[in-house]
Amino acid sequence: MIFPMRTLLIAAFVTLGSFALVAQGPPGGKGKGAPHTNLKVLPDDANLIPTMRSFVAALGVGDKGGCNFCHEQERASDAKMTKVMARMMITMAKDINSKFPDGKVHVTCYTCHRGSEMPLTEPPQ
Ligand code: HEC
Ligand code: HEC
Repeated sequence: MIFPMRTLLIAAFVTLGSFALVAQGPPGGKGKGAPHTNLKVLPDDANLIPTMRSFVAALGVGDKGGCNFCHEQERASDAKMTKVMARMMITMAKDINSKFPDGKVHVTCYTCHRGSEMPLTEPPQ
């Protein structure tokens, strides 16, 4: 089967099940099994870090700190407004998806952000 990029981003966002490739956890992170203490909307499973990577790609912030665009050194911290905003956006996207009649995920961060921190709300002139 062919999985287009969009499907991959969606898969990362849905946080279904577990994939072997994520078992090693974040590179240079605290290592396997570090407890997550401040998850309010996402499940604490093997898809957490792939989901986080999908945020970096969706917002195009790889050269704006990457993970640190939203995170302090201590990732449980909610000190950055971008993280607080992102948490609201996760809830918003889930809410939008729940309105589709087929129960599938149609709207991801990338649907609006398209690789940009601030999505365009009007067509470019
Ligand atoms: C666009 C903002 C954003 C980016 C970029 C981002 N994160 Fe997150 N991260 C969040 C939010 C929001 C939460 C909290 C989710 C919740 O409340 O369920 C979170 C939670 C986490 C947690 C759990 C912390 C705890 O103990 O509660 C870890 C670990 C984490 N992120 C790692 C990363 C890594 C690694 C990257 C880069 C690959 C990254 N994040 C990039 C927004 C972001
Ligand atoms: C329905 C469209 C839409 C979706 C889906 C969406 N966003 Fe947003 N997002 C926006 C808009 C519009 C803004 C700018 C809001 C403003 O003007 O303050 C924004 C702003 C943000 C900001 C603040 C950026 C900054 O520099 O202050 C973050 C962080 C963010 N979004 C993260 C996410 C994440 C993570 C997801 C996926 C879980 C997501 N967004 C999904 C529309 C969307």
